[in-house]
Amino acid sequence: MTEISGTGRTTDESRTNDEVWIVGATGRVGRGVTARLAARGLTVVPVGRSRERMVAAGAEAGLPGDTKVVVADSAERIADEIMRERPRVVVNTMGAYAATAPVIARACMPGGHYVDQANDVVAVEGLLALHDEAVRAGSTLVTGAGFGVLATEAVVAKLCEGRPAPHRARVDSVASVAVEAGVLSAA
Ligand SMILES: NC(=O)c1ccc[n+]([C@@H]2O[C@H](COP(=O)([O-])OP(=O)(O)OC[C@H]3O[C@@H](n4cnc5c(N)ncnc54)[C@H](OP(=O)(O)O)[C@@H]3O)[C@@H](O)[C@H]2O)c1
Repeated sequence: MTEISGTGRTTDESRTNDEVWIVGATGRVGRGVTARLAARGLTVVPVGRSRERMVAAGAEAGLPGDTKVVVADSAERIADEIMRERPRVVVNTMGAYAATAPVIARACMPGGHYVDQANDVVAVEGLLALHDEAVRAGSTLVTGAGFGVLATEAVVAKLCEGRPAPHRARVDSVASVAVEAGVLSAA
């Protein structure tokens, strides 16, 4: 997990409501995150492209029947909604993070916070490039919050324990993909 911490600057412009938006709330990760945050009593708002599927997934995740949902079908449209409504936190599980993360994270600023589970260097570097902007905006951006980064970084951290810091480390990893229809291969 990689985190950029904001300074907590408070201005009218940076005022947010108490909502946590889950982008991709009908997906595998989105449904799980929705259920866990709902169980903790947070105000969770599903965001995605199908109202019907979000309502059904929300009910399964334990959200009340009259829960607000935000219908939007691209990172740009989602960003417009975020800038209009100012949720406190946006959890991005829609994927294609190299493209979607900077657009959605920028929309959270100033004052709103962002988290995703990007898995690739291009996406993570793109989000980290917003560091200075996020600090000025008092926003916290978290990328790589999934198992992928943990699994690869943990190996390096373990192997480097008690040794001089390496100049460079490279980890090759192969994901084992389990889709809802079943496990894709024996990877
Ligand atoms: N770092 C890690 O360890 C880790 C772990 C798991 C997953 N991931 C990554 O996280 C992402 C999500 O994984 P997942 O298994 O939850 O995928 P998933 O089940 O396919 O869910 C994707 C979600 O994003 C929504 N979505 C896709 N395109 C959209 C668009 N243009 N506009 C609005 N919503 C859109 C989908 O909505 P619909 O229902 O309308 O299709 C769905 O709700 C993937 O990129 C995956 O690689 C990373």
